[in-house]
Amino acid sequence: MGAMKAKIIDGKKIAEEIRAELKGEVEALSEQGVIPGLAVVLVGNDPASESYVRAKKKACADLGIASFDHSLPADTSEADLLALIARLNADSAVDGILVQLPLPKHINENSVINAISPDKDVDGFHPVSVGRMLIGEPGFLPCTPHGCQQLLVRSGFDPAGKHVVVVGRSNIVGKPVAAILMQKAPGANATVTVCHSRSADLPSLTRQADILIAAIGQREFITADMVREGAVVIDVGVNRVEDASAPRGYRLVGDVAFETVSRKAAAITPVPGGVGPMTITMLMKNTIESAKRGRS
Ligand SMILES: NC(=O)c1ccc[n+]([C@@H]2O[C@H](COP(=O)([O-])OP(=O)(O)OC[C@H]3O[C@@H](n4cnc5c(N)ncnc54)[C@H](OP(=O)(O)O)[C@@H]3O)[C@@H](O)[C@H]2O)c1
Repeated sequence: MGAMKAKIIDGKKIAEEIRAELKGEVEALSEQGVIPGLAVVLVGNDPASESYVRAKKKACADLGIASFDHSLPADTSEADLLALIARLNADSAVDGILVQLPLPKHINENSVINAISPDKDVDGFHPVSVGRMLIGEPGFLPCTPHGCQQLLVRSGFDPAGKHVVVVGRSNIVGKPVAAILMQKAPGANATVTVCHSRSADLPSLTRQADILIAAIGQREFITADMVREGAVVIDVGVNRVEDASAPRGYRLVGDVAFETVSRKAAAITPVPGGVGPMTITMLMKNTIESAKRGRS
């Protein structure tokens, strides 16, 4: 076994760089009397969702974005939630609406996503946003895939002309990251292959990647034999692994076997500290973008 050689793509540091830029934008807006506002809607008390929502509200506070807290009981009806969304759509102090997913089972997630005005859809999940992304029109890009692109570009790995292999085809990560990186646009122009659980001979596909993006949801699924020497590896996966010695009784592990893959790759994102910090940062970016568009 050789020593680690991959460059670590530091998502925390890149996210901080972007937040410093965003802070300047918020200050410029506030000089014009505009304070960007994000409505944060949480239904129920799932601990993971609560912690995401706390982190989003803190990021808003750090940047000078107003956050409007809508924490609703788990038994909130779909009709009541839709009525709240309608009010937020009409509220001129609200530039972005974030509904934390997953929602309780009695609420249809698609109905809720579809009810958010595309002009305030800072998560980028509305079908109109998805369509705009696909055809390359301005809109809101979904935060995690956009964060992956920014990680690549800002660490000097321009995807243009490269073969990007994405493992995973979910609507929140796999499909949109493929759509973003295949665009005829700066920071994109990649040749993209998308793999999933029905792909035949997955290792032979992943080994072709100049840039490998893992969004699978299975701990350490991508092993060194699946990675080409010198590839750039973006690990989107966040998997909880029980660990009695960790303060919370668990630790987070990615979809990539970091130890062994990092000896073969040219660069790799760690988990935690890679894609994770970028997601909230892109949400902040979208909210500020919305404030600029909506109030100009
Ligand atoms: N860092 C962040 O901010 C962030 C944000 C979102 C998600 N995540 C993490 O990213 C991971 C993926 O999330 P997701 O929402 O995209 O998950 P998901 O909806 O469960 O999708 C997983 C994808 O992986 C594919 N897959 C599963 N097992 C496979 C196998 N054995 N071989 C090949 N493909 C396989 C599935 O294929 P099929 O379509 O064929 O089933 C599916 O397309 C999770 O760990 C999640 O926690 C992180």
